[in-house]
Amino acid sequence: MLALRPVDRDAGDRQPTLVEHPDPVPGPGEALVRVRATALNRADLLQLRGLYPPPSGESEIPGLECSGEIEALGPATDGHTAGDGPGYKAGDRVMALLAGGGHAQKVAVPVGQLMPIPNGLSFEQAAALPEVGLTSWVNLVIEGELTAGQTVLIVAAASGVGTFAVQLAAELGAKVLVAGRSLERLERLRELAEVEPMVLGERLVTDARAANGGRGVDLIMDLAGGQDLGPRLGALGRRGRCVLVGILAGNSTDIDLGDVLRRRIRIQGSVLRSRSRSEKARAVEEFMGFAGPRLDDGRLRPVIDDILPFERIAEAYDRLRKGGVWGKLVLRVP
Ligand SMILES: NC(=O)c1ccc[n+]([C@@H]2O[C@H](COP(=O)([O-])OP(=O)(O)OC[C@H]3O[C@@H](n4cnc5c(N)ncnc54)[C@H](OP(=O)(O)O)[C@@H]3O)[C@@H](O)[C@H]2O)c1
Repeated sequence: MLALRPVDRDAGDRQPTLVEHPDPVPGPGEALVRVRATALNRADLLQLRGLYPPPSGESEIPGLECSGEIEALGPATDGHTAGDGPGYKAGDRVMALLAGGGHAQKVAVPVGQLMPIPNGLSFEQAAALPEVGLTSWVNLVIEGELTAGQTVLIVAAASGVGTFAVQLAAELGAKVLVAGRSLERLERLRELAEVEPMVLGERLVTDARAANGGRGVDLIMDLAGGQDLGPRLGALGRRGRCVLVGILAGNSTDIDLGDVLRRRIRIQGSVLRSRSRSEKARAVEEFMGFAGPRLDDGRLRPVIDDILPFERIAEAYDRLRKGGVWGKLVLRVP
């Protein structure tokens, strides 16, 4: 099969190149998926630079999500997830959350990380969902404990993850405040959900509290991190939670620990990829329980910047690296 060349850690930063690679063989509890579309994530950029190796035992080929058809089930795989999830068989159209291996024509996927493609969605649309969907679910709901009637501030909300997180938070019944560097990009989020945009900077805490009736917010889902994270915690109300999901703005900050103590604030780091297969399967099942019907009828939808043919993968990586993408970059796999 054709696949993105796995990272050679001694070779440093290299151009993404497609090479012939042996087909993966599905192990127990896995399905072999014939990939029709896949999408890019910032973690792929890091992996390509040798900075983000896959969890032990997972494919060395980059690519954290895909859609396609099940070609075969591995030994002792009855097609069922741990709970009452859907049963799968060869020929089913699925999308998948991956620990790696998605930038290829075939990938072996733990059955618990498969999801049926929602009604009416193309392979390309479905490939744009697993990472943003599960990252949003895990951090808003599982770690962030967001419930109806609460307020969430999503930082770096004009990101790919943000374009889904705002929809999900609104569907959960939360009030959604969105922060980022560019007001123009934040305003576009109004097409997706009812949001209140505010620019990152010194006024953020004041603006967030003003938009929330003078009160602190219940949750910050923070995709940026960096020096301003500490001061931003001032936007939290008493017993507020901050879930740190990305560190695009840097990996250190000063935090007023006295404030954390007094107001009983919680700060939680969160990574999706390194979670165990069983943790991922549970998250996938919960996510599809809530989001499945909403994806079927269009209340939740993927946001795609562009769809490129697989052979233009280097161009797609370059575009992601340069920034300014709106939603996801998807690759159509022949
Ligand atoms: N922890 C996890 O499991 C997990 C899973 C998925 C993603 N992530 C992380 O989540 C973040 C977003 O991922 P994505 O795929 O959605 O990325 P993306 O679509 O490429 O978007 C990147 C976003 O980051 C913003 N940004 C870049 N540099 C910034 C800075 N210095 N200060 C503030 N904002 C900055 C950009 O702002 P503009 O809108 O102004 O351009 C843009 O909105 C990344 O850090 C990614 O690694 C984490």
